[in-house]
Amino acid sequence: MATAHPRFALRPVVPDDTPLLVEIFRASILELAAEDYSEAQQDAWSAAADDEAAFGARLAGALSLVVTLNGTPVGFGTLTGGETIDLLYMHPGVAGLGAGAMLCDALEKLAGARGAKTLTTDASDNARGFFEKRGFVPQRRNTVLRGGEWLATTTMEKPLAGKASP
Ligand SMILES: CC(C)(COP(=O)(O)OP(=O)(O)OC[C@H]1O[C@@H](n2cnc3c(N)ncnc32)[C@H](O)[C@@H]1OP(=O)(O)O)[C@@H](O)C(=O)NCCC(=O)NCCS
Repeated sequence: MATAHPRFALRPVVPDDTPLLVEIFRASILELAAEDYSEAQQDAWSAAADDEAAFGARLAGALSLVVTLNGTPVGFGTLTGGETIDLLYMHPGVAGLGAGAMLCDALEKLAGARGAKTLTTDASDNARGFFEKRGFVPQRRNTVLRGGEWLATTTMEKPLAGKASP
């Protein structure tokens, strides 16, 4: 019987996830960012995962979570340095079904629990509406060089509700 909502779950990233997360990263950029970036820009952006070992090390160096559907990873996100969402990528097959929100929620809670007062992200143009909806406020426009291509992004910040001091 079909279910109304997919059952997503979260767990920490483990090293064996890396090859699948590289595939999700590439598919996410190539399909979900196509309206805002040229093919050359998308290729340059997704080339960040060409060195799989380096990409795995990037994941291992952050607080990294994977979102699964029936046990299979369908997206991932990272909290870097305690107060930055560095990566947040969903497989196009689950886009718009709430997996990104679930993952971002968890990263926001982890950042808050670790004492962050604000959470920052450098949002791609296609993801800006997603972060705005979650209370992130645009701070400045950037042009970043990725693999020989210039890409426009927006630095966004969200104040986190801190616990009152005793
Ligand atoms: C941005 C991204 C992570 C969102 O993940 P998602 O699982 O599709 O998002 P969700 O289904 O959880 O959406 C949550 C809410 O945000 C809204 N939303 C999602 N993407 C949006 C967008 N681009 N613009 C405006 N609203 C958006 C949804 O409609 C939903 O609204 P609702 O709560 O009213 O139903 C995903 O689209 C993605 O991987 N994009 C490509 C990679 C990328 O650019 N990552 C960000 C790098 S900074």
